[in-house]
Amino acid sequence: MRILAISGSLRASSTNSALVRATIALAPEDIECLIYTGLAELPHFSPEIDDEKSPATVVSLREQLKAADGIIICTPEYAFGVPGSLKNALDWTVSTGDLWDKPVAAISASPLATGGDKAHASLLLTLKALGAKVPENAKLTVPIIKKKLNAEGEISDPETKQALQTVMDTLVQAMEHSAITS
Ligand code: FNR
Repeated sequence: MRILAISGSLRASSTNSALVRATIALAPEDIECLIYTGLAELPHFSPEIDDEKSPATVVSLREQLKAADGIIICTPEYAFGVPGSLKNALDWTVSTGDLWDKPVAAISASPLATGGDKAHASLLLTLKALGAKVPENAKLTVPIIKKKLNAEGEISDPETKQALQTVMDTLVQAMEHSAITS
């Protein structure tokens, strides 16, 4: 089975990308984990170019989502919402239903005590519209993220690591359940 992980931040030293790396490091050995790297290259969504001649970057996103049994999304909050680049990627999946019935873990992180809760709520609403399955224990907000990193920018806080382990275990369970029932 395979997990595709997406960070909603384009920053090189992103704390959400650090969370993505820390989460996939907790996956069982027999699960292949890939990180999606195409977010910045996607064109702005328009229904007028959403046809059989969709841009190659969009086709690639859709193929990577379809080939994954589970998805992890870690997002920052920008102006109380999900970053435009992440929302743009999700909009490209509406017509093809790539996330329909797909187990998804939804994580947000912020340097603030809110943990990016508004972006998290907005992400969950979008995932609902896309028909994704987000198990309760695969939802996580991480507040004060900068205190949870070591000097190398890795997640070092034991409580956060435990919370990420719960997210990963829940996602894998949902993936296994989907594999049996589909
Ligand atoms: C932010 N940040 C922010 N944080 C938050 O909790 N709520 C918010 O609404 C916003 N809005 C916002 C807007 C803009 C334009 C920027 C640049 C930043 C702070 C943000 O959480 C912080 O920069 C994170 O470190 C971004 O995540 P990455 O890049 O570290 O993953």
